[in-house]
Amino acid sequence: MRISAPVFAVLVLLFSGLPAAAVVGGREAPPAPWVVALFDQAGNFFCGGALIAPDKVVTAAHCTVERSAVGRRDRRAEELTAVAGRADLDSRAGRGSRVAAIWRHPDFTAVTAGDDVATLTLVDPLPYQPVRVAEPGTGPAVVRGWGRTGELRPPSRVLREVDVPIRADAECADLVRGYRPGAMLCAGYPEGGKDACEGDSGGPLTAAGELVGVVSFGHGCARADHPGVYTALARYREWL
Ligand code: ARG
Repeated sequence: MRISAPVFAVLVLLFSGLPAAAVVGGREAPPAPWVVALFDQAGNFFCGGALIAPDKVVTAAHCTVERSAVGRRDRRAEELTAVAGRADLDSRAGRGSRVAAIWRHPDFTAVTAGDDVATLTLVDPLPYQPVRVAEPGTGPAVVRGWGRTGELRPPSRVLREVDVPIRADAECADLVRGYRPGAMLCAGYPEGGKDACEGDSGGPLTAAGELVGVVSFGHGCARADHPGVYTALARYREWL
């Protein structure tokens, strides 16, 4: 049977996101007020983050750099707003603060090279219980974010989460080119289907309720044998 190009395109769109939903393969997240949404000077959401102290947010270094057709530009602290306690980006729930200062890891160059971590010092402390930073193990973890729910799907306006297993470093090294054990983590099922995706960057990977990673990069989203890659926060503790 032959199908026309437009019909094929529609079928691709319909099935590309399966299994459905965000963050890919996830569900709407129960309340997690320490999860932070970052907004730019125009009020647009651009990355996730996590409150690790009342006045400190950890995110990805690449979230502090704005990429556009004309090149890259460092975001400036004055342009940013960090909001906690707001699961629905279209609501006014939660509390926000301007950013007083940005610290970006000095060795950060490109996402796939690692050291993809930054912190934002807030002007106003936010009234939520921060999340604790912990050493990762392998096994069950949760990633949260407002990113795309499939490679070709739009980002979510409500916070979502998905369970992904943290894989052993040896497996990650086999699957991810340039993987740096100790400085990176990888998580996902061999068959794919569940993952972070574009827009989830900077957001938290937790294990047993403690923060172990920051969403950094992936090859597509939720593809088989392409786990999501995270910055291993424990490695950077002295900087946080
Ligand atoms: N770099 C992406 C961002 O800026 C995050 C990609 C994560 N991808 C993945 N498949 N886990 O939002």
